[in-house]
Amino acid sequence: MLCKFCISTQIFSIYDGDRERMKEHLIVFDTTLRDGEQSPGASMTQEEKIRIARHLERMKVDIIEAGFPAASNGDFEAVKAVAKNIKESTICGLARATKNDIDRAGEALRGANSARIHTFIATSPVHMEKKLRMSPDQVFEQAVKAVKWARQYTDNVEFSPEDAGRSNLDFLCRVLEGVIEAGAKTLNIPDTVGFTMPEQFGQLIHTIRKQVPNSDKAIFSVHCHNDLGLAVANSLAAVINGARQVECTINGLGERAGNASLEEIVMAVRTRQDLFLCDTTIDATHIVPTSKLVSSITGFPVQPNKAIVGANAFAHEAGIHQDGVLKHRETYEIMRAEDVGWGANKLSLGKHSGRNALRSRLTELGIELESEKIFNTTFIRFKELADKKHDIFDEDLHALVSNEATNLQEHYKLVSLTAHSETGKTPYAKVVISEMGKELQAESNGSGPVDATFRAIEKILSSDAELQLYSVNNITSGTDSQGEVTVRLQKSGRIANGNGSDTDIVTASAKAYLSALNNLHSKLQK
Ligand code: KIV
Ligand code: ZN
Repeated sequence: MLCKFCISTQIFSIYDGDRERMKEHLIVFDTTLRDGEQSPGASMTQEEKIRIARHLERMKVDIIEAGFPAASNGDFEAVKAVAKNIKESTICGLARATKNDIDRAGEALRGANSARIHTFIATSPVHMEKKLRMSPDQVFEQAVKAVKWARQYTDNVEFSPEDAGRSNLDFLCRVLEGVIEAGAKTLNIPDTVGFTMPEQFGQLIHTIRKQVPNSDKAIFSVHCHNDLGLAVANSLAAVINGARQVECTINGLGERAGNASLEEIVMAVRTRQDLFLCDTTIDATHIVPTSKLVSSITGFPVQPNKAIVGANAFAHEAGIHQDGVLKHRETYEIMRAEDVGWGANKLSLGKHSGRNALRSRLTELGIELESEKIFNTTFIRFKELADKKHDIFDEDLHALVSNEATNLQEHYKLVSLTAHSETGKTPYAKVVISEMGKELQAESNGSGPVDATFRAIEKILSSDAELQLYSVNNITSGTDSQGEVTVRLQKSGRIANGNGSDTDIVTASAKAYLSALNNLHSKLQK
């Protein structure tokens, strides 16, 4: 039987062979690029957003919330660019329930193959009274008006009563009934402050579906924050009670303690098909590479014991566990590491690989380079890397492309670096950079070669930016692995991340520092 809450293009079911019945489609709505980006320090450039969006598209995410177009020109342009580049997933733009916000979202999404406008207004007493200073009747009217206005742009309109978790049930149901009547096709119930408990939230979804008279005309969605560590549990409780869209982010990135994590929801539903009447169509083998990309772009490391994507998620330390897994894998493993993309760092290419091999591997990885010129420089960097590092893995190629993409738009570029460290001697670095083609150099001592390098760069540029984060990760395993460095800088209230990779971590650090300065430079110019 088909799900009675499915709408037009979203109608489709999954045949569950074992249980001889049809499974309903659980829609995955990823908001890494919108709510995820609202994490302090996690802001992304347009190019970074496109790169993440391409990964999400390959993962078969149904809907990508690309940003909040009315928030800034940068956000508007980023949504527009994602809409232009991504064709398989629906692209969504967030808008407050105002004419201006909705117009901006409609405009940004004009080039999308499939577009959704997501409009919201708060319905909890504390938000209506203290933040909006509006009466419930005014909120009701504005919500209905906003949905009608958004319908001029698309019939794929989602409505969220912000802070639904703390809203009055009868009022919430009244608003939901009104917006369905006005044309909203998806009703998203946010637990904005992560306040609810799983049983309570599940019950809320159940009651709303029963109490709203026209609830069968819309799909129910949930959007849970993780303030009490319950975002995934609350989302799953909602799914058990009939929600058929989950809003989530890669690595659980998001405001404050974050949003529900996509990888945990997808794998919980997939692993416990005995309990769920639905499943997603996510290609889970892209989960780990996407998690790594988001972590490296935002500079937010993934904790080693994080479910699914943590480095230890599939590692067995205790002898008794290792023994059990060797005898029979399922003794201690409920999922297979390779099914979520671990071990996907396949040996890709080597020193003798030519242009065609590189081109076809990049295509297989879904990496599209904008021009032949970028491909040519990428090929040169690939050969340089292959000279230093025998085996080139997929992760190395992602890092290489990422380096090239940032390098091309750079205001400041690293020309050369000499760093010296020797036991008993003061570390030293000499850095040459080019600023719009003009070469500048400086040298400095420091507490270590990285510190000396950053000091030398500061002698040249005097940015006065405050270093907020410095982190190094190895891209693949082995001492010949490339180190990937993330640097976060802050100046005049603006925060910018930068990444750099190289087999030499001091060089990677210099690239990351300059990349953060470049991002800061462009932000401060806006
Ligand atoms: O947390 C929240 O309530 C939101 C809404 C805009 C859906 O992010
Ligand atoms: Zn949110």
